[in-house]
Amino acid sequence: MFEQELSQLEKQHLLRRFMVVESYDGPRITVNGRSLLLMCSNDYLGLSSHPSLREAAAKAMENYGFGSGASRLISGTSVLHEELERRITVFKGTESALLFNSGYAANTGIIPAIAGAGDVILSDSLNHASIIDGCRLSRANVVVYPHKDVDFIEGTLKKNRNAKRTLIVTDGVFSMDGDIAPLPEIVMLAEKYDVILMVDDAHATGVIGKTGRGTAEHFGLSGRVHIQMGTLGKALGSFGAFAA
Ligand SMILES: Cc1ncc(COP(=O)(O)O)c(C=O)c1O
Repeated sequence: MFEQELSQLEKQHLLRRFMVVESYDGPRITVNGRSLLLMCSNDYLGLSSHPSLREAAAKAMENYGFGSGASRLISGTSVLHEELERRITVFKGTESALLFNSGYAANTGIIPAIAGAGDVILSDSLNHASIIDGCRLSRANVVVYPHKDVDFIEGTLKKNRNAKRTLIVTDGVFSMDGDIAPLPEIVMLAEKYDVILMVDDAHATGVIGKTGRGTAEHFGLSGRVHIQMGTLGKALGSFGAFAA
């Protein structure tokens, strides 16, 4: 049943296969016995193999075991989760933070929690796939605006003044092209029209801003973005994500 589709994908050069890495040594990896320079990873600060992170992870496993054994709401919340959330709150300068197991889980969790049927979401056309899925799950009326088009955003906000709740969601640093969202203009519009603003800082956390706190810090807008989503699996060298 699927062979035809798979061969079609193969013909279009769209069939993807895993590249198996045999060893990591900073930016050098070994694949099929060949030493290669790794240029496609998101480990922007090289933290994934940093000695103090390795040591902290090993110590945590020794003290707490390997798995949580249950979801957060049952008995899976340890003091480590709380400590990490507290530190993220301080790092991002927000009121609170909540961990997720991945960036995908964060975006498909946060967005439907904020917007639902009858609400409006404005989403940049180049937003990450996990934001697109989060918007679909929400059942809100999703308006995809042309990439970084703030005039389009304002026009849509004017037309939807009567919506119960409106959310603007954008990547901070766009995952495919590396360009940065026009946050000063978007913040201004969110404040002018009194709507909620969410920024996905997966590629901005640890990368931009004077102290690596992301897009809001980069533009001097700390405290003016309602929800900052970030991942721990890129510059922060681990895995998982958060809403702050
Ligand atoms: C902008 C953006 N948001 C969300 C994600 C999803 O993060 P994760 O890989 O942790 O699911 C990614 C990761 O590729 C991303 O680039």
